[in-house]
Amino acid sequence: MTPHQAEQVSFDNTELDKFAAYRSDGATPDAPDILDLSNNELMLPPLPAVAESLHRSGLRVNLYPDPAARFLKANLARHFGAEPAETVVGPGSGGVLQQLLLVLAGRGDEVLYAWPGFDAYPLLVAVTGATGVPVPLTATGEHDLPELLGRVTSRTRAVILCSPHNPTGRRIPRDTLREFLAALPPRVAAIVDQAYMEFDEEEDPHDLGLIREYPNVVLLRTFSKAYGLAGLRVGYAFASAEIALRARKTVIPFSVTHSGEQAAVTSLAQGEELARRLAHVRRLRADLHADLGAQGLTPIPSSANFVWLPLGGESDRFAEAALRAGVLVRSYSGDGVRISVGTEEAHRRVLIAAKEFLSV
Ligand SMILES: Cc1ncc(COP(=O)(O)O)c(C=O)c1O
Repeated sequence: MTPHQAEQVSFDNTELDKFAAYRSDGATPDAPDILDLSNNELMLPPLPAVAESLHRSGLRVNLYPDPAARFLKANLARHFGAEPAETVVGPGSGGVLQQLLLVLAGRGDEVLYAWPGFDAYPLLVAVTGATGVPVPLTATGEHDLPELLGRVTSRTRAVILCSPHNPTGRRIPRDTLREFLAALPPRVAAIVDQAYMEFDEEEDPHDLGLIREYPNVVLLRTFSKAYGLAGLRVGYAFASAEIALRARKTVIPFSVTHSGEQAAVTSLAQGEELARRLAHVRRLRADLHADLGAQGLTPIPSSANFVWLPLGGESDRFAEAALRAGVLVRSYSGDGVRISVGTEEAHRRVLIAAKEFLSV
């Protein structure tokens, strides 16, 4: 045995040791006839202009992309009325969140978030060495904002707020959010995860007022959901120039690809088509909500591209019925089931599952 083998290696991140790698349990079915409504993806093919951009950009994969993704950053800033200095881009909003957390928190610190929530939060917080503090949602699937405030300690560095919330689809109204931010100590960053904001009729993505009023606020966004580019991995954030400058330094070099950058910029120019697609998703969401309600289930009104059924201890049983009907939904055991808005055929299968579920 060599001295290196004999030595007990300690990577010494006890927070990270609490979690498995992200979704390493294999959530995606191998069977091609199963329709997957478990990932909140957009079930529409790329827009023609995006497909064309992908074709062109694919011809230069032998070259590194611009490590600063300046074309994308400049276009995002112009499109949404921010300064390039206030703009951060990265590999998906998950990647940008990681960049932000790395500059905001570290060992001994705490980061708060509502729970159940986006299942990557605990892991991304743990990567920094900080401790994640999950705060239960209210009975109606909303952030318990007074409780979140009450859980702020001298060790709290950041609060992640998700609106519309994954997995319940509930939004935090602007006035309520402002009240919360006014009460939050300015030394605590508020990361507002707006991954699903485009599906929310009440939101205006061009309104960046919050980062001007509250320099501790970060608006986190993605091209994965409404823009339908989940496979390309492009996310972004708007923040104070100070936070943004630091967060740009923690990006994995070259992690925003040239194809991703080009497709994202092309997408920004497709406003009318985006609006049409959002209307389509909202229509399907309303139908799914109504049809589940008509069967006797009680989905929570959603502002995102998914519907939440608060089924508590019956959640796994619903997900099993769904799989038998040929559709994969996401069970949050003990809490509820999240069903992504998909195709009419996928929804037909969900309703078959609902019937079977209710017949027992
Ligand atoms: C609330 C929320 N934030 C962020 C993400 C990460 O998305 P992406 O990294 O594809 O931008 C997701 C993905 O499902 C999500 O649900």
